[in-house]
This record gives sequence, C-alpha cells and structure tokens, in this order.
Amino acid sequence: MMEITRKLTFKAIGLLIVMFSLNVAGYAERVATDKNSYPKYPWSFSGIFGSYDLSSVQRGYLVYRKSCASCHSTEYMRYADLQQMGLTLDQIDKMAKTDQILDGKDAQGKDHYRPATVVDYIPSPYANKLVAQSVNMGKVPLDLSRYAMTVDGQADYIMAILLGYTKSPVDFKLDQDGLYYNRYFPGHQIAMRPPLVKGGVQYTDGTNTTIEQQAKDVTTFLSWTAHPHLIERHRIGIMALIYVAFIAVLTFIIKRKVWSNVK
Ligand code: HEC
Repeated sequence: MMEITRKLTFKAIGLLIVMFSLNVAGYAERVATDKNSYPKYPWSFSGIFGSYDLSSVQRGYLVYRKSCASCHSTEYMRYADLQQMGLTLDQIDKMAKTDQILDGKDAQGKDHYRPATVVDYIPSPYANKLVAQSVNMGKVPLDLSRYAMTVDGQADYIMAILLGYTKSPVDFKLDQDGLYYNRYFPGHQIAMRPPLVKGGVQYTDGTNTTIEQQAKDVTTFLSWTAHPHLIERHRIGIMALIYVAFIAVLTFIIKRKVWSNVK
C-alpha cells in the first residue's frame, strides 16, 4: 500500500515538473516572439491589490466619446453601467439625452431617432461591419467593450498604439495612402489616423489635456470596461490564496503524521 502511494507521489511530482517546464518554455517563446516590446506603465489597476482611479476612468470615457466612438463601438455597454464609475443616474441621464438612438422607422419609412435614456446601449457608429470596412481602408475598427481583456499586454499595448505614431523611417514605405506609420502596431502600418490631439477634449477637473494624459485616461477607461468585476475578483483571489496556503500547511502536517511510523 505504502509502495503504491509512494509511486503515485513520484508520478505526481514528475507531472508537476513537466507542466512547470512547459509553462516556462511557453513563456520564453512568447517573450522571444514579441518583437514590438513596448513601454510598461505603472497602472493603478494592475497587480493583486490594484484598483481603478475612477476620476481617470471618467475622463477616459469623455476621451472615448470625443475621439474614438466615431469609429469604435462599445456594444456591451449601457449608459446605466456608467454608474459604476461613480456617476449618479441624474448625471448619466443628462449625458444620455444628448445622444440620438435609432428607434425603428417613422410613418414615411425613414429612420426614426430619439434621445437616448439610461437603459439604452451606447450607440455604435456604423450600421454593420461592411459599412465600417468601406470607410476604414477595408479594416474594421474593433469593438472596444472587452478589447483590453483580449490583447496581450493589455493597457500597455493600447497606450503604445495611441502614442506610437511617428514619422516612418527613411527606408520604410507605406503600402498606400491612408495608412499611418506606428512603431508598435504589428507590421507598422495602421489604418487608424492618429486619434488624439492636444486639447481635443475638455476636462472639467482641470487635468491637463496633453496627448499622453488623454491616452492614459482612455486606456484606463478601456481596461475598466473590459474588467468590470476586477475589484471583486481581486478580493476573491486573495481569499483563494489564503485558502490554498491553509490547505498546503494542513496537507504537510497530515503527511508528516501518516509517514511518521515509516523509517
Ligand atoms: C477614424 C476612425 C477611428 C478612430 C477615430 C479611432 N480608431 Fe482605433 N482603429 C480604427 C481602425 C480602422 C483600426 C484598425 C486598424 C488596422 O487594422 O490597420 C483601429 C484599430 C485600433 C486598435 C487596435 C490595434 C490592433 O492591434 O488591432 C486600438 C487599440 C484602437 N484602434 C484604439 C482606439 C482608441 C483608444 C481611439 C480613441 C482615442 C481610436 N482607436 C480612435 C479606426 C479608428
């Protein structure tokens, strides 16, 4: 019986070592293939104790609506969701009313629009993908509601793209007009014109409206929309860690007890 247990333990340890090595190899490969390594920023929301700076999220929403929403949708987002960034329903209602929502056809068969309300989804800029493609050099501006969750490097990558527009190097030729050189975009040719301009948005809290500040705020907003439950998850994560540590200690003690009579 003891023999079998011992063999199984060795097998389990062996398997763990193999899994660990595979993981390390995979990580090394990812690092090696990441030719566009981009600057890393100390985001308040990264790390296990991270949390969002809600005033930055709010400013980022303004930037998104002013400078991104004409091309990128956030189709999973309702106005009411903005409450979680610290706005009251009244404030949101005022903001929503300034937007128009397509609401069926009128008696003449023309598109009918009405002011948005808090329960509406934030309107998408294009009727469908084909329209989006036709005005963007054949590329579709992605939906940004969950985008920050799907890209490697997340916030740092978005920041890099937003700040990565430079003059193309002398030996680099863009394939066609309407493409822009971007240091960090894979292939360096992006069909998105530089979306941020200095002073392109008005902040009500007196924060500077430099391109870097707007990039930081909109990136914070996009991370926030992509990870709506981050704060709760961090709390659950910490609880889980404590639990695992407790079980590990318990297992160790039990193992010592069980094996104590084996010389
Ligand atoms: C004029 C339209 C337009 C505006 C405005 C715009 N984008 Fe884009 N964006 C695009 C298009 C088109 C692409 C796809 C580019 C490509 O694949 O070459 C894109 C791609 C992106 C990407 C993805 C890069 C990748 O790896 O695929 C990010 C991130 C992005 N935009 C963020 C933003 C943010 C944030 C804003 C506002 C500050 C913004 N965009 C404003 C049209 C726009």
